Amino acid sequence: MSETKSMSDTVTLSVEDAVAVVLIDNPPVNALGLSVREGLVAAIEEIEGNTDIKAAIISAKGRTFPAGADIAEFDIGMREPWLPGVIDRIEACSKPMVAAIFGTALGGGLEVALGCHYRIAAASAKMGLPEVKLGLLPGAGGTQRLPRLVGAEAALQMMITGKPVKAALAEQMGLVDKVVADDALMAEAMAMAAAMMAKDGPLPRVSEKTEMVEKDRADAELFDRFKAEHGRLFRDVIAPDEILDSVKAAVNLPFREGMSVESANFNKLFTSDQSRALRHVFFAMRETSKVPGIGKDTPLIDVKSVGVIGAGTMGGGIAMNFANIGIPVTIVEVKQEALDRGLGVIRKNYENTARKGRLTDADVETRMGLLTGSLDMESLADVDLVIEAVFESMEIKEKVFSRLETICKPGAILASNTSFLDINHIATFTSRPEMVLGLHFFSPANVMPLLEVVRGDKSSDSVIATGMKLAGKIGKTPVLAGVCDGFIANRLMLPYMVASQEMLLAGTPMQVIDSAMRDYGFAMGPIALLDLIGLDVITFPGDMTLTGELVAMERRGQKLNGGFYDYDEKRRGTPAPAAHDVIEKVRRHRGIAGDVELTPEQVVAGLLYPVINEGAKILDEGIALRAGDIDVAAILGYNWPSYQGGPMCWADIHGLDKIVAGLEQMGIEPAAMLKKLAAEGGSFT
Ligand code: 3HC
Ligand code: NAI
Repeated sequence: MSETKSMSDTVTLSVEDAVAVVLIDNPPVNALGLSVREGLVAAIEEIEGNTDIKAAIISAKGRTFPAGADIAEFDIGMREPWLPGVIDRIEACSKPMVAAIFGTALGGGLEVALGCHYRIAAASAKMGLPEVKLGLLPGAGGTQRLPRLVGAEAALQMMITGKPVKAALAEQMGLVDKVVADDALMAEAMAMAAAMMAKDGPLPRVSEKTEMVEKDRADAELFDRFKAEHGRLFRDVIAPDEILDSVKAAVNLPFREGMSVESANFNKLFTSDQSRALRHVFFAMRETSKVPGIGKDTPLIDVKSVGVIGAGTMGGGIAMNFANIGIPVTIVEVKQEALDRGLGVIRKNYENTARKGRLTDADVETRMGLLTGSLDMESLADVDLVIEAVFESMEIKEKVFSRLETICKPGAILASNTSFLDINHIATFTSRPEMVLGLHFFSPANVMPLLEVVRGDKSSDSVIATGMKLAGKIGKTPVLAGVCDGFIANRLMLPYMVASQEMLLAGTPMQVIDSAMRDYGFAMGPIALLDLIGLDVITFPGDMTLTGELVAMERRGQKLNGGFYDYDEKRRGTPAPAAHDVIEKVRRHRGIAGDVELTPEQVVAGLLYPVINEGAKILDEGIALRAGDIDVAAILGYNWPSYQGGPMCWADIHGLDKIVAGLEQMGIEPAAMLKKLAAEGGSFT
């Protein structure tokens, strides 16, 4: 092998048996940043100019073939050479170019592979064009080359779902030429390059392939059919339509003209609010686990066994998270009946999953086998972590934590799942406050992806680091929260719920409120949401409340007799006459005229501005570390639409000065931080 030459800081080239091996080395995911693009251009020049080189392999060092363009570069301004041009040059190369794919070849990474003349993949590799998840489309020729290689329908499927395909399927689709054992990838790529350089005739360039697109052109219904079959994926978001339009161009226009359509559509999406929001969310999701002062050198506590106290709504779901990853759980209840009911619900949940084919019967038994019920707190003597999920009452929590103090081994972590109570106060019931923290799950706890890790004043770094790490292990995204009423997500959304009640009383019909928020992107509006969580769960301020009156009539929402809406057997709601009467009654009691009907736009402002205001306070008080953490908590805890970026990112896009003015008009004092940022022209994110 020749000596290894640097083509740039991140790309090297060496020659072996007349084959140039070009390796990208840009950890962690070999994203195609400026220096990689420059290195690839230099490599192509070397390959073309060096007569000793007869063919080339493009691959990477580290854990993966490039996983895409460098998303971090998008917001700081991209510099030439642009990726589409680099890939054109790879394709135009006069010597055979082989992509040796492993890990996750995503986005621009897969587009580089599509520019190569041959593709060989390791058996464990995955390939995809996930740009849609960032509100974008594949903008380096992906929308034009992929349909030419695998047909428009398969290409649309990959680009509009954003889901990667495994190597075996990629081979079946014609996306790669060969799949080989992981450890044979480079040797097989060398063999392929050697075979190809010996071959006469033109190189197979994907942009020149016509067979697939000709077939697709004959299918007049293809695009309408695809959209009809995948309608859900086109709802609310703009990128899928632009992808469809670009693929239409691939099918109907010559390659170069199609590239112009792709480029125009990419630019439209790149500057869109949706893409800005989704890119923010991409990084925010990955940032939440980073806590200043806590790093690799913070010792973690080994959690090999868990105790859960309370087998009610939350306790059962919490226990499942640990059984799912093979950690044994002891569940403690006060009464046998409650324990049996709790374990019964868990079994039913697992069996339902098995019925859907996502678990085997044996898995169900293995997981149930990891759960031990007990009526005796003493059985928690040896566990490494206890999570308390008993009734939301400080007196009961005091009883529980005082017992834990005497029962648990030194070094055990003591956590509470409380929604609103003071973790610092709970910690005083033990003599080891450094071992106490909040682990706040969201209901249903086995499903919802958010875990708020609540740091008490005295929680040790090790305890917090272990909580954050454990979240990842059970498949949740951790967000660190400080101690306050409701932590981040619940505190943030309480003003939203309160405002929805005031709006209803002031005269906006519930359907108008709910539909405005559905149009904003929530799966349901706040009134329907209250019916779903139960009208007895949230207590609203005021001496006579809508929910209080409805509950007094035994209307508790979907779970009992309907609430604001009446429900048919398919759970479709219509505004309930009973709720209408209650609204009238509360209006009379409070002396509200009920004649202010807001437009959908005013509903959105009326419900969301108070949320932004609360978010600013949460940030200012240091309850959340970053605005992005608040966004992640809202997205994962309350299904805030991610293409809106979460509340804080949405506020930045929407305009902070508009929000300040709107709050003042509503008679709400804007938070100091919000006012300051608005005045400075600053932003939360
Ligand atoms: N650009 C910049 N940074 C990236 C990146 C990218 N494309 N992909 C991942 N990273 C960073 C992450 O931010 C993270 O940084 P951190 O360690 O500082 O937090 C680090 O790489 C590791 O990422 P993950 O924590 O996500 O690691 P995983 O192993 O869980 O996942 C992955 C790896 C599957 C590659 C996942 O990161 C991923 O899906 N990345 C995004 C892929 C993508 O969207 N590609 C398309 C980009 S757009 C594009 O290519 C446009 C083109 O068509 C012109
Ligand atoms: P729940 O009422 O469904 O269950 C509580 C269970 O605790 C009951 O089964 C009860 O028998 C048991 N229990 C009471 N005292 C006990 C004791 N001393 N020892 C052992 N078991 C005892 O309540 P839920 O909804 O599960 O809430 C539990 C905790 O989780 C509360 O602090 C609540 O605020 C919090 N939480 C609730 C959420 C929800 O959506 N329900 C969401 C997030 C947190």
